[in-house]
Amino acid sequence: MINHREKIKNKKVLVTGGAGFVGHNLVKSLVNDYNCEVIVVDDLSNSTEKILSDIIKKIEFHKISVCDKEKLFPLFKNTDYIFHLACKQISSSGSEPNVHLKINAESTLNILEYIRHNDLPNLKRFIYTGSTSIYGSSVRLPVNENDAPEVLSSYAATKLLGENFTAMYCRNYDIPATVVRYSNVYGYGQTPKNPYAGVLGKFIHNALTNKTLTIFGDGEQTRDYTFITDAVDATILAAVHPRAYGDIFNIGTTVETSVNKLVEIISDYVGEVKSENVPERDIDNIRRRSVSISKIHKNLGWAPRFDIKRGVKETIDWYKTIL
Ligand SMILES: NC(=O)c1ccc[n+]([C@@H]2O[C@H](COP(=O)([O-])OP(=O)(O)OC[C@H]3O[C@@H](n4cnc5c(N)ncnc54)[C@H](O)[C@@H]3O)[C@@H](O)[C@H]2O)c1
Repeated sequence: MINHREKIKNKKVLVTGGAGFVGHNLVKSLVNDYNCEVIVVDDLSNSTEKILSDIIKKIEFHKISVCDKEKLFPLFKNTDYIFHLACKQISSSGSEPNVHLKINAESTLNILEYIRHNDLPNLKRFIYTGSTSIYGSSVRLPVNENDAPEVLSSYAATKLLGENFTAMYCRNYDIPATVVRYSNVYGYGQTPKNPYAGVLGKFIHNALTNKTLTIFGDGEQTRDYTFITDAVDATILAAVHPRAYGDIFNIGTTVETSVNKLVEIISDYVGEVKSENVPERDIDNIRRRSVSISKIHKNLGWAPRFDIKRGVKETIDWYKTIL
């Protein structure tokens, strides 16, 4: 059987947003597991260079914005793969739609335009990291890639636009591209200091430091939580697999877990925790989510290795090392 992942070994790879939560885990895997030559582009607006400290000598780091075309595009020379992760996260105020547009979508368009009009003979794949938030509050679960989007935030609107540009440039201009849609990734390196850290990162940190866990609403809202190493592995596989060319894949587990269940799982590992229910925020407008992973399983042979209990245990053990 062909091990497609081997194809990325020793290759030159550029990762935008490579100092972010998913990005730095991807970069570490590319360097440590695949011996890639990695260029990281990140403006550090939602991260710090420190997160890459243990591999900083093995990578080329550029503190620049993906909107800075003059500085960004020369870095594409001779790259084999470009992973575009830089993003402006969903914010509770919903007051930054223009920033979402610029970073999540316009930067994607600019990169695709550059690839279209310039000779990048080594480029094998451009990978855009989309979001399952584009499915909104779909009533039919698990959602699959062909389900109609329901956009409920400017973040989701601009992530969908980024995807659409990627798919269109692949179809119309033969730009080798793949989109992965992540569902609530959690795990190592999701620092709780980050205001956009996911619920699991905050809960685990608070549980371990004897602080109260804040639950927005009744806690019965569900998500499909994906462990970081599974998300990274699926992203690399989608980048190298010939059957992923020009296609879009959900990355998740298909399992729905409520916020109340997360509290229960965490307390099973760390003992009793304090929690409080507070009113929902404007971004808490999706009640349930689970994503179908039949397509990535059937076409690429991928399946997650971590269920929620094992992933939470791994994450708790990691947090203990940084406290
Ligand atoms: N983490 C999840 O659960 C999740 C879910 C769905 C989709 N995604 C997508 O995965 C990707 C990575 O998400 P993440 O959770 O690691 O987010 P993150 O915020 O931790 O990482 C994004 C990185 O992009 C950087 N960045 C922001 N604006 C930039 C700019 N103008 N130029 C250069 N760098 C810039 C930030 O400093 C940060 O390091 C994003 O595209 C996101 O939309 C993540």
